Amino acid sequence: MKLPFRYEKLGYAALNVTNLDRSVAFYRDLLGLDLVEQTDTVAYLRCSSDHHNLMLYKAETAGLKRVANKLASPEDLTRAYEHYLAEGLHPAWISMEECHALKQGPTFRVREPQSGVLFECYEQMTHMALPFKAALTKIARIGHVVVGSAHYERAVHNLNTIFNFAISDYVEGKFSWMRCFPNPLHHTFAIGNSDRNHLHHVNFMVTDIDDIGKALNRMQKAGIEVVFGPGRHLPSTSIFLYFLDPDGLTIEFSFGMEELPEATARQPRMLEMHPNTMDIWGSSPKERFGKGGEIEADHG
Ligand SMILES: [Fe+2]
Repeated sequence: MKLPFRYEKLGYAALNVTNLDRSVAFYRDLLGLDLVEQTDTVAYLRCSSDHHNLMLYKAETAGLKRVANKLASPEDLTRAYEHYLAEGLHPAWISMEECHALKQGPTFRVREPQSGVLFECYEQMTHMALPFKAALTKIARIGHVVVGSAHYERAVHNLNTIFNFAISDYVEGKFSWMRCFPNPLHHTFAIGNSDRNHLHHVNFMVTDIDDIGKALNRMQKAGIEVVFGPGRHLPSTSIFLYFLDPDGLTIEFSFGMEELPEATARQPRMLEMHPNTMDIWGSSPKERFGKGGEIEADHG
């Protein structure tokens, strides 16, 4: 099925954190993002020429605030809005004031009702004059956001048929890896079957395998809990490391990922439910892996 709009990429994730200064220090000094701007209530960080690839909002409860995807053109943005409107999902343009604060062009938000995830669509974000410094870690991009959902099957159906996320691989009834179409990266979003709707993890892709090993030692020296890895995912072939942010949210570094170009994309694979699907090197996740993090329920 062909939907009437095209994405360019995953743009940024917005997280709620309970102590803004503490989280800014973690994401800047241990993860290696550049801090662009910070107020009393919000911080903008980046790992590219975009004004922000991660936003942190001061909040009572830590978790996922929204996921923002960049559309391919202004026309795609308009067609996407009309599409969501016709689907009865009540997309809403944000105010000019908020667009200015975000350094973005026209922007709307729409919630996927089963997972509860608020998605943002925009087409323009300020391109920064100076490049990302990458002093600590050679981060290439924000890679993906993963959630768990108590309404897994219906959420996957909506994400695939309304939100235009192509399925790259899946474990039947359990997990789907999806890409905002036609972006070729194996997954920009993924969803698992869970007992409740919650954030699972946020991923940043690094450009050098040394970044994974260096991060492992840096996190351990700083007393940060590593909750899974280092290991290698079967579906995307990426080498991974998962650790916890100061609120217990799971963050991933990964190196390498299969690409599925629009014209030559293979069919999605139905993968076996097996520990090796998660790590072909055989490590096991710890208890807190992918557990911390609510999905913010109200528009904001
Ligand atoms: Fe991941």
